[in-house]
Amino acid sequence: MAKLTFRNSKRTVTDRAEVAKTMKSIGVIYEVWGTERLPKSLSNRNLSDSEKQELLKAFDPEIKRLYKERGYQTADVVTLYPDTPNLDVMLAKFDKKHIHTDDEVRFIVQGRGVFTLYPEKGEPIDAELAPGDFITVPGNYKHLFTLCDDRQITAIRIFTDPAGWVAHYRD
Ligand SMILES: [Fe+2]
Repeated sequence: MAKLTFRNSKRTVTDRAEVAKTMKSIGVIYEVWGTERLPKSLSNRNLSDSEKQELLKAFDPEIKRLYKERGYQTADVVTLYPDTPNLDVMLAKFDKKHIHTDDEVRFIVQGRGVFTLYPEKGEPIDAELAPGDFITVPGNYKHLFTLCDDRQITAIRIFTDPAGWVAHYRD
């Protein structure tokens, strides 16, 4: 379950309906997909290519729905764990404020991660996402991403075109 922390006032929101309402109010799509269908054998570790395909298959209905509703065309799985090669280099690409021209669409399968969201009006919000949480940060929306202290996450990423998903840094 997600936890929102307003950066300036330190106010927190953990109630599911309140989280959804707050996300909507700042223009970010948030859903809860759950993880009941997650194969247990794919838990809490880096995965091979075939295991990643197995994971995508488990959430195929949701992914296909998004292709249909929002025109996305491809999906993959990213795993970041302490033994992931070049973990710090990978994280450093996204821990500074940036935008993408495409939406950033993520379903958190395992572990946790924090999207810091910078709405046009109002204070920045740290959105700590947990397994089962789904988020869409719209194109051109300022944000950054970091892992939590345990540095563990498995996430499904959904794209219009992965080549268009690059970070453009912003102040
Ligand atoms: Fe990003």
